[in-house]
Amino acid sequence: MSTATPASAIVPASSANLSADIEKQFSAKGIKDRPAYLKAKKIGGHKLAFRDAVADDAAFIVALRTNEQKARYISQTSTDVAQQRLWLDNYAQDDRQVYFIIENSKREPIGTVRLYDRQGDSFCWGSWILQAGAPSSSAIESALMVYHYALALGFRQAHFEVRKANESVWKFHERFGAIKTAETAEDFHYTIAASDIANSLDRYAKFLPKGITIEF
Ligand SMILES: CC(C)(COP(=O)(O)OP(=O)(O)OC[C@H]1O[C@@H](n2cnc3c(N)ncnc32)[C@H](O)[C@@H]1OP(=O)(O)O)[C@@H](O)C(=O)NCCC(=O)NCCS
Repeated sequence: MSTATPASAIVPASSANLSADIEKQFSAKGIKDRPAYLKAKKIGGHKLAFRDAVADDAAFIVALRTNEQKARYISQTSTDVAQQRLWLDNYAQDDRQVYFIIENSKREPIGTVRLYDRQGDSFCWGSWILQAGAPSSSAIESALMVYHYALALGFRQAHFEVRKANESVWKFHERFGAIKTAETAEDFHYTIAASDIANSLDRYAKFLPKGITIEF
């Protein structure tokens, strides 16, 4: 286990920010085209942890994604747990995305988040869902953990889409410094630059005071 670069030390644009462990992973896997996604066994935060999603998480994910309240602004998911297991089996072989189960301090699953669709040095994140009743700091902490990990992997910006009707979520992203770049009938498209990500990591440092730990 190693401690990633502390939030306050994250400055954009230098691969020197990659932790030694990440560098080792890239070398071991022969990954030269960077930044790139790396699945991690566990990312430790402050009150939360992320762990790599596995086939046995299928029932949890289906329940979360088909919850009437939570499913309003995400793409539709089948209620078929076997199908979800299959998706997770395929995911395990797919190095183009990282899917995390968000856990609370009791190591109970409380949500999901996913990094995918790399475009150059920009990563996309989504599939971001927190169970009803998750502590209110969980949204900010999980977002900070995503950004912290992505910067550690060498990403320098993010892009994502949010349904226009999902107002609390696009407001959340705008408070983080995301800039609207386009809109379709249903969605707003956003980007956020490394400097704005770094500002938010600093501004909200009390939610993730020691940065993240990474276990591969
Ligand atoms: C996306 C999701 C995980 C965000 O979590 P959330 O808890 O709704 O996030 P919120 O914006 O309400 O923020 C949680 C708390 O942090 C506070 N907060 C959020 N941003 C903050 C900020 N920048 N500064 C200070 N406080 C902030 C909020 O006020 C809120 O506090 P409260 O609980 O006391 O009201 C959750 O809404 C969800 O699961 N949605 C369903 C799936 C979905 O639509 N996902 C997004 C697809 S793009």
